[in-house]
Amino acid sequence: MRAPPFLTLICLVLFNGSLAVAQQIETFQLKNDNGLKVEITNYGGIITKIIVPDRNGDFADIALGYNTVSEYQKATPYFGAIIGRFGNRIANGSFKLGGKTYNLVKNNEPNGIACHLHGGTKGFDKVIWNAKRINKKGEQGLTLTRRSPDGEEGYPGNLDVTVTYWLTNSNELRIEYAASTDKATPLNLTNHSYFNLKGDGNGTILDHILSLNASRYTPVDQGLIPTGELAPVDNSPFDWRTPHSIGRDIDSTHPQIVYGLGHDHNFALDKSEPKTLTLAATVYEPTSGRVMEVLTTEPGIQFYSGNFLDGSLTGKSGKPYEFRNGFCLETQHFPDSPNQPSFPSSILHPGDEYTSTTIYRFTTK
Ligand code: BGC
Repeated sequence: MRAPPFLTLICLVLFNGSLAVAQQIETFQLKNDNGLKVEITNYGGIITKIIVPDRNGDFADIALGYNTVSEYQKATPYFGAIIGRFGNRIANGSFKLGGKTYNLVKNNEPNGIACHLHGGTKGFDKVIWNAKRINKKGEQGLTLTRRSPDGEEGYPGNLDVTVTYWLTNSNELRIEYAASTDKATPLNLTNHSYFNLKGDGNGTILDHILSLNASRYTPVDQGLIPTGELAPVDNSPFDWRTPHSIGRDIDSTHPQIVYGLGHDHNFALDKSEPKTLTLAATVYEPTSGRVMEVLTTEPGIQFYSGNFLDGSLTGKSGKPYEFRNGFCLETQHFPDSPNQPSFPSSILHPGDEYTSTTIYRFTTK
């Protein structure tokens, strides 16, 4: 099923005046037997809608975003998008690999300190992907593929990427990432969905109850770059091992909260074995009863409380997205890993296959 308002035809006019390579932007809907729906456009692989029931069986779209692709093209804080090549920040937009220094675009400047964020000015969130519907028993899927060419945004190697979204009859949205390269490159793929479990456009997320399965986190400096330390969360606003509201400590004077303007930190997930699919986060919204669990094979998760939303963007419900009207849980390797030898390696080598899986599971209570 395709949603017509999203159908756009992109034609490239070549320098000799001829028209070439028509790439279509389309939106695809995945639906399960319980009435859940997920919509995805092949522009940036953006998840444009996630429609799930509350405890009374009433459905609402819990993903922030826009009604048209052109709005995503105009201005977006990465609503729903695939992020690559490298999710999160790389200090000073530079890293060394195989004796060579690579310089990436610097497209972000927290507290006046420039860095590379989420793959650069034209990352995986701003390109058109090849899309193909797939199905298996009890699951509807969409496979997105593309080749990221050698040198794209400064990164080495031709990188072939596949991202598959699955909606299952057990009310899970499963995202599978795979990639291979012909030169060693940093790689850290994620999805940047913003959620409000009350439903899009329904105000603050500070009353949502969060828990994270993490005993340590990676503190940052003023430029939001990890210091390299893996700090225990004990007795700090970062101890989410006992569920509590997102708002509880958000105005704390803890220097880390001050740097992030609230919560914007990477957590090192507690795992007995690396790369196993384990529960990373649970979010519960008391009025609707909606629960979202996040499971991942990744070592880390960024919890971001929407601190850079400022009312300047109007979402699909017609209401502006104000400060902290959405939150993100981005599964990932740790920020700035290419410059941090003690962090799990984010380098993909030729001959190796990159794989990563994240599940958003929806229930109610
Ligand atoms: C980061 C924030 C950043 C936001 C951009 C998040 O992943 O953690 O610091 O401002 O993305 O939308």
